[in-house]
Amino acid sequence: MLDINKEIEKLDWQKEPRGLYEPIEYTLASGGKRLRPTLALIAAQVIANGAALDEVVPAALALEVFHNFTLLHDDVMDRAHVRRGRETVHVKWNDNTAILSGDQMLIEAYKLLSDVPADKLPKVLKWFNEMATGICEGQQYDVDFEHMIQVSIEDYMKMIELKTSVLLAHAMRIGGYIAGANEDQQEALYQFGLHIGLAFQIQDDILDVYGDPKTFGKAIGGDIVCNKKTLMLLTAMETASPEDKTELLQWLMTTDRNEEKIAAVTELYTRLSIREKCEAIMEQETAKALEQLDKLPQNEAAGRLRDMAEQLATRTR
Ligand code: IPE
Ligand code: IPE
Ligand code: MG
Ligand code: MG
Ligand code: MG
Repeated sequence: MLDINKEIEKLDWQKEPRGLYEPIEYTLASGGKRLRPTLALIAAQVIANGAALDEVVPAALALEVFHNFTLLHDDVMDRAHVRRGRETVHVKWNDNTAILSGDQMLIEAYKLLSDVPADKLPKVLKWFNEMATGICEGQQYDVDFEHMIQVSIEDYMKMIELKTSVLLAHAMRIGGYIAGANEDQQEALYQFGLHIGLAFQIQDDILDVYGDPKTFGKAIGGDIVCNKKTLMLLTAMETASPEDKTELLQWLMTTDRNEEKIAAVTELYTRLSIREKCEAIMEQETAKALEQLDKLPQNEAAGRLRDMAEQLATRTR
């Protein structure tokens, strides 16, 4: 299997001004799971069993650089101080740096994308744009919801589909399409990515409460502090007794005493078994993703997809 990390290392950030390029280098060298390019490459392998993956590399790199761009801006929006066990760009430098280096990463993503084989480029570009708009829409819902009390689980699922799933779904479809997938296969790959994406974000919400900061690489409780309408919070609001609900609403109105707020809300989640309820929804999404595999060639790469879907649901980082 092609080593995507080696391909990322080959990208050259030794350019001036350093204030623009150093934060990009810092971000791309800080690791991460490389999930999106990996999905694009495996999708390609499912379709073209062992075929030349080289053609998929530009799109795979574009997806990872794009993802990292969204993280720079997301960390400003979420006031997050730690990512991948390191200071976030807006903390290590400042907000302006996160904005501008992020913008440049978006442009770099499109530069990489322009190397997609010419006959495939029009469709890939169209999908990439749809994906990018979807993420902006999802991120806007995410911040709008911080200031709202009435958010339904349906609203939440739509929001995470946009902010997180569409990127995984498009990564799968783009990888498969470049490798020659027919339309039914493209759709199956897309749906697989969409459902593992939903499961992935639900697990991210769970880890934001119960993760180990050393392995997860992010600070714990950030979503609670920001009043993010996570599946944890919405499930708690739905299932809590009137007394517990009043307590929860009081914490939502508390904008200081962050540590106390995190501890109290976490205690309430634990008492109401919210994690288990969210895990059940996550498992449903994983199952929906796995159903798509029946529509795809049954080969070693498809087996890897199955393993990945199952592992993502129990991931700790
Ligand atoms: C973080 O994505 C943003 C979410 C969609 C939760 P990842 O958890 O894939 O981040 P890295 O790239 O592995 O650090
Ligand atoms: C992920 O949302 C969506 C994007 C970054 C576009 P989060 O805000 O939950 O991601 P993390 O937890 O900061 O990685
Ligand atoms: Mg966010
Ligand atoms: Mg965030
Ligand atoms: Mg999160």
